[in-house]
Amino acid sequence: CSQIGLQDATAAATAEKGLHMQKVGSGSVRAALAELVALPCLFTLWPRPGAAREAPRIKWTKVRTASGQRQDLPILVAKDNVVRVAKGWQGRVSLPAYPRHRVNATLLLGPLRASDSGLYRCQVVRGIEDEQDLVPLEVTGVVFHYRAAQDRYSLTFAEAQEACRLNSATIAAPRHLQAAFEDGFDNCDAGWLSDRTVRYPITQSRPGCYGDRSSLPGVRNYGRRDPRELYDVYCFARELGGEVFYVGLARRLTLAGARAQCRRQGAVLASVGQLHLAWHEGLDQCDPGWLADGSVRYPIQTPRRRCGGPVPGVRTVYSFANRTRFPSPGERYDAYCFRGESCLVGGLCLLRSLRDTPLDGAVLTWSLAHEHPLGRK
Ligand SMILES: *[C@@H]1O[C@H](CO)[C@@H](O)[C@H](O)[C@H]1NC(C)=O
Ligand SMILES: *[C@@H]1O[C@H](CO)[C@@H](O)[C@H](O)[C@H]1NC(C)=O
Repeated sequence: CSQIGLQDATAAATAEKGLHMQKVGSGSVRAALAELVALPCLFTLWPRPGAAREAPRIKWTKVRTASGQRQDLPILVAKDNVVRVAKGWQGRVSLPAYPRHRVNATLLLGPLRASDSGLYRCQVVRGIEDEQDLVPLEVTGVVFHYRAAQDRYSLTFAEAQEACRLNSATIAAPRHLQAAFEDGFDNCDAGWLSDRTVRYPITQSRPGCYGDRSSLPGVRNYGRRDPRELYDVYCFARELGGEVFYVGLARRLTLAGARAQCRRQGAVLASVGQLHLAWHEGLDQCDPGWLADGSVRYPIQTPRRRCGGPVPGVRTVYSFANRTRFPSPGERYDAYCFRGESCLVGGLCLLRSLRDTPLDGAVLTWSLAHEHPLGRK
């Protein structure tokens, strides 16, 4: 049949159906921790809204996969110009176009938490008609506490900024620390933030960590401080841009040996920010390894015996029981290496992978690693 005929047929089907979801592209929406993100959802109505027919009902849910079963967690429902937001999402979601543009059910979500990553379902129902679209969301970036090699509370504000920079990160903004706190981050060490305030996140209040909030959970705040005062720091690492891998040899390595071993594998020792990002992406290894700053750490996803405590996180090995001082460079551990990817125009990234050690005779290969979805934000 002719092109015209086909279009007529489609139009007729749409008219009959009345309600039609406009699937908005593919690929996931990526956004950084603490940002706001728009999850698109557009549909068409026939006849136009305002006609005698019933108003559509918009419903947003988050798809959960619990014990293999799909369950949806309600977020909000909109009908007849009224938007009802579920408990747990209040103050963090809205439908900016509704009800002015009733066919635009785009959801605005944020400030984003790491736990917001996942699959979102937009559902529109009118009478017996029912249409839906799924939008995957990926929240990038991670906040971490950083203490200098020598002792607790030994960084001026300028040194704190530099410490984050040397670890593939920037000094965290208050909104980053707040988002991490809302996901359960608890750390009783006062650290610099980008606005020159000093704060720390406490989910379970306890003696010694009351700060300015006594027994309540919350981010403690010492206010803006003199930049010469000394504290730890909170850093924010945004994108890994490569891969972190673990190297465990039968004979463990000194710091210099670890550096050389990474180099032999076409890589460098990973920074603290890179290890945290790799942990965020799922790296789990119960073996302490050297990092570029001379610290020794390991990433734990699934807490287990003798792997540093009951909550997931990146563990740090200190010399002293009061959690200070990096190990001395002659001690022997494993290593975490980082191999960068190189991005061409258009967001196509190639991972530089020098597959096998040793270097002699090996050919440097470039393998196609992955294509960044062209960011819809
Ligand atoms: C839908 O609403 C969002 C949020 O207000 C807006 O950014 C977007 O441009 C709208 N899309 C269309 C097609 O109107
Ligand atoms: C931690 O312990 C070491 C060694 O006992 C000591 O030199 C250092 O001052 C202590 N630091 C803090 C913050 O208590």
